[in-house]
Amino acid sequence: ADAALVEAFEATIAADERIEPRDWMPDDYRATLVRQIAQHAHSEIIGMQPEGNWITRAPSLRRKAILMAKVQDEAGHGAYLYSAAETLGVSRDELTEQLLTGRQKYSSIFNYPTLTWADMGAIGWLVDGAAIVNQVPITRCSYGPYARAMVRICKEESFHQRQGFEILHALARGTEAQRAMAQDAVDRWWWPSLMMFGPPDDESPHSAQSMAWGIKRFSNDELRQRFVDMAVPQAESLTLTLPDAELRWNEQRGHYDFGPIDWDEFWTVVKGNGPCNRQRMEHRRAAHADGAWVREAAAAYAAKQDARRVA
Ligand code: ACO
Repeated sequence: ADAALVEAFEATIAADERIEPRDWMPDDYRATLVRQIAQHAHSEIIGMQPEGNWITRAPSLRRKAILMAKVQDEAGHGAYLYSAAETLGVSRDELTEQLLTGRQKYSSIFNYPTLTWADMGAIGWLVDGAAIVNQVPITRCSYGPYARAMVRICKEESFHQRQGFEILHALARGTEAQRAMAQDAVDRWWWPSLMMFGPPDDESPHSAQSMAWGIKRFSNDELRQRFVDMAVPQAESLTLTLPDAELRWNEQRGHYDFGPIDWDEFWTVVKGNGPCNRQRMEHRRAAHADGAWVREAAAAYAAKQDARRVA
């Protein structure tokens, strides 16, 4: 590329200013953003399934209305993120194709089953809690459209996190059976939530370059630690325990120490062999096929409107 363009790009990154769609950018920077934003968008869309599973079985009308609103927000997040990715020159159709053929990933976390109502609480509290810790720094990402999309997404995620906390808070103060259900959900979701932050720093191939480009602001391990430090006092206020015997405050580090993560489980899930990978993808493919008539109708309508405008 033209040396002046490269220099302008590097100066923008060094000054911590934003790269915008019309600016020149290195091919690898563009490819990294497409990869990360697409994976993020796909996660929002696949992430509707585990909670969608409980909409018809929510324990009250109020809980049902809240859960429906939440799942609908996730569809909205997917839509903003696909739009952010489109500013990089890929189409939403291409990205959908990459998801459906398994060439692009989505977050490992959405391949775990939602067995009880308490899982709605644990997902909101832990999974959305982890998502916030990961995503707040992305509001300062060097790529403008991604950073701006993240502002609203983070506000909505914080409502999601509170609703999950409140579900667990109610169950933890309910009957013995409700309390046990809440504890069981936390036991099952804790470790997968820690895996959401990605592999350890020394096994994360993209981290160094993404941090140099200001796409990532903190490393996977830094954000994972921040999440643990936030979750421990919240678990105490819920009167629930986290399933890790090695969890304890380290005065010297000023952080909680925690036990080893099962990275074999993480890679098994990432490679497509987690408990629900197959089911999630089958469901998404079927939903996409079932929605073909809606896309055709919308395209026909848009064409008619365009023709009318020209006439
Ligand atoms: N699930 C699935 N795949 C993962 C996960 C995960 N939890 N963590 C890392 N990976 C993949 C990476 O995509 C990468 O694979 P690829 O090279 O085939 O793309 C590989 O593991 C190595 O990881 P890293 O080098 O650490 O990758 P990266 O720098 O992209 O960091 C991270 C991963 C932290 C997830 C980053 O992409 C990110 O912050 N993404 C935005 C947030 C996001 O996607 N959230 C989705 C879940 S939250 C929600 O939707 C509610």
